Amino acid sequence: MTAPTKHSKLVAWVNEIAELVTPDKVVWCDGSQAEYDRMIQINVDAGVAKPLAKRPNSHLYLSDPSDVARVENRTYIASVKEEDAGPTNNWIDPNELKATMTELYKGCMKGRTMYVIPFSMGPVGSPIAKIGIEITDSEYVVANMHIMTRVGTKVLEVLGDDGEFVPCLHSVGKPLAEGETDNGLWPCAPLESKYIAHFPEERLIWSYGSGYGGNALLGKKCLALRIASVQARDEGWLAEHMLILKITNPEGKAKYIAAAFPSACGKTNLAMLVPTIPGWKVETVGDDIAWMKPGKDGKLYAINPEAGFFGVAPGTSMESNPNAMLSIEKDTIFTNVALTEDGDVWWEDIGYDAPGKLIDWKGNEWMEDKGNKDQAPAAHPNARFTAKASNCPSIAPNWEDPAGVPIDAILFGGRRPSTIPLIHQATNWNHGVFMGSIVGSEITAAALDLKVGSIRRDPFAMLPFCGYNMGDYFAHWIKMGENTPLESQPKFFFVNWFRRTDDGAWLWPGYGENSRVLKWVFEQCDGEGKSVETPIGIMPTIDAIDRPEGVTEEDMAELLKVDVEGWKKEIADVRSEHYPKFGDKLPQALKDELEAIEKRLG
Ligand code: GTP
Ligand code: SPV
Ligand code: MN
Repeated sequence: MTAPTKHSKLVAWVNEIAELVTPDKVVWCDGSQAEYDRMIQINVDAGVAKPLAKRPNSHLYLSDPSDVARVENRTYIASVKEEDAGPTNNWIDPNELKATMTELYKGCMKGRTMYVIPFSMGPVGSPIAKIGIEITDSEYVVANMHIMTRVGTKVLEVLGDDGEFVPCLHSVGKPLAEGETDNGLWPCAPLESKYIAHFPEERLIWSYGSGYGGNALLGKKCLALRIASVQARDEGWLAEHMLILKITNPEGKAKYIAAAFPSACGKTNLAMLVPTIPGWKVETVGDDIAWMKPGKDGKLYAINPEAGFFGVAPGTSMESNPNAMLSIEKDTIFTNVALTEDGDVWWEDIGYDAPGKLIDWKGNEWMEDKGNKDQAPAAHPNARFTAKASNCPSIAPNWEDPAGVPIDAILFGGRRPSTIPLIHQATNWNHGVFMGSIVGSEITAAALDLKVGSIRRDPFAMLPFCGYNMGDYFAHWIKMGENTPLESQPKFFFVNWFRRTDDGAWLWPGYGENSRVLKWVFEQCDGEGKSVETPIGIMPTIDAIDRPEGVTEEDMAELLKVDVEGWKKEIADVRSEHYPKFGDKLPQALKDELEAIEKRLG
């Protein structure tokens, strides 16, 4: 196929890769519905996708057990200097990694088609959008990229003959012999030959061996966070693992809130929240990534670079997240959920019992056994749906505004069964950066190689997504504050929906009830909330947030208590374990914040 572009650098790169990976043919993607249908049909014919009778234009994929989530120990920041990857990233010398991966790429697309996907992160042609070109041998990736990004000929038009793009090379690492097909099996390479590699100085991404999510849809975590965070540092903006929502009070006044929670800690749910408090409205701008740039008025303006949602399925129900349930009624790709006999999907906590015999995510027959607490789940805990943002009922009318939306508040959060209260507020920007820098959370199933449940620090929810030295990243945040006029700065908050009682039950009902907490955030932005100063920051008074049904006054007191002993342990851990990792990269401003909170705690 001749290239539909005169961009000589792009054409040369595509030719060079084709020579290396030796596909049967090369196809340039146009982003059309016909192309999407063709991708899915190829997968259906090979037995790796199933149409869902109950959901129009929707399909189910079951992946390989070695390929169900991001793999953090196979993800690399191959900067020229090791120091620039920093203490929290895996580093390999870029030349060495390229040599290793080039060997793997040799002939790796034999028997397959090599697709060239021109995609835009952000509205096509908008000044803040960035163009990537993903080369892949996976039809699943092409179809998902259609939903998650803006794909096609219009992107090549904007790129012109010499526009800038991020080259993103991807292969599932499973060449096919003459006459061989995938024959019902999800193609990927064994764990030890998977590599998710970033070359930050070159703005280059190489991914090999995985077909799943953030490992393979390279516009998302690889480009829009790891590479973009490096560009943001160099250019004076922020690329963050944050949802963006619009909240409107009963008087019709709106504010925009961004929130950074680690993977599988509630961003999609908060972004699509249906308030339980009368008269309030929440609309969705984005559910995973925010690019924020200072506007002329000094405020931070945020855009969602994505066009779809790659959301966690388990736990999603009409009760917990109706907007997500409505977004996935049609035009959706499901991965690793269970299949019902009548051609629908099912997962744990979907809101109703499994309707009879299912096929679980491993492809085996599965019958719900409620008596058996140890029954393996029917859907993988990191099972996902890929859905168009435009199919979401709560999508904000201005979600594609290229100017972005002005951010009034930034929330941090994580899964913390104890110590961290329902909400507390930073007294100023640097205190906010301090809060972000010490985010900790129970590990979830969103990464394959980590022990679910144990608590780890995940600064700014960016631990797996920062493309450079995390100490320099903290310094960049401090500097952004120095450059933002006081009156234009967002307010910073720390939330925790995940407090548990001694017997393991949730202390706070979460989901739509979180609107009560957002209301206090809204009020605080206007200086109108009921609040008190505490050693850890500003907190709501006990009656500032209306209690939801089932939450007693004692529960509320527990949720809003400053657990001084718990906090002393927390801060001692920051001093002895967390902050020392960053050595002399740790900004003085954060050392000062640490000392100040130690003093306040006594
Ligand atoms: P990524 O896509 O991995 O970045 O995840 P996310 O941060 O968007 O998390 P998501 O909203 O998909 O939620 C992950 C899991 O947390 C789901 O199983 C939800 O049901 C659950 N969850 C979300 N919000 C709440 C809440 O307020 N309370 C409780 N208890 N669980 C929640
Ligand atoms: C996350 O893990 O934070 C995700 C899913 O949003 S993935 O795109 O696979 O990284
Ligand atoms: Mn995420």
